[in-house]
Amino acid sequence: MSECGPLEASDPATPARGRRVLRRVLLSVGWTLAALVAFGVALYLFGGMWVRTPEMRAAYSDLVASGQQPRLARTLVVPIPGCVCHSDDPVVQARHANRRIRDCFTCH
Ligand code: HEC
Repeated sequence: MSECGPLEASDPATPARGRRVLRRVLLSVGWTLAALVAFGVALYLFGGMWVRTPEMRAAYSDLVASGQQPRLARTLVVPIPGCVCHSDDPVVQARHANRRIRDCFTCH
């Protein structure tokens, strides 16, 4: 009776031990997966590209200063390591730096 009763948890020598270890392993795998998924969703919602260089920023600032481009409102974008905008156009870079991964598919 002790194998499946409420006393089981307080007795580490019962035959159900293997099952409990398995349960703990599965639980930790499950939590790890859940954390990874949550991390991925957070990056999808708030992550975006790096603006490539300070020169690119400066080039866009010059265009703003000379009135050729509007000043962009800054949005919260968390830069994803390795996710870099490769465009040579400072306007494309500046605009894309404000976009999050979830926005990409509305235009592309
Ligand atoms: C508001 C619309 C819009 C959104 C949102 C958007 N893009 Fe773009 N993207 C454009 C346009 C327009 C161009 C073309 C610019 C050009 O060719 O001059 C472009 C160009 C590009 C290019 C090519 C750049 C080049 O110089 O060849 C890449 C790569 C790209 N986008 C990736 C992304 C990614 C990644 C995201 C999400 C973070 C994204 N875009 C979100 C409108 C958008």
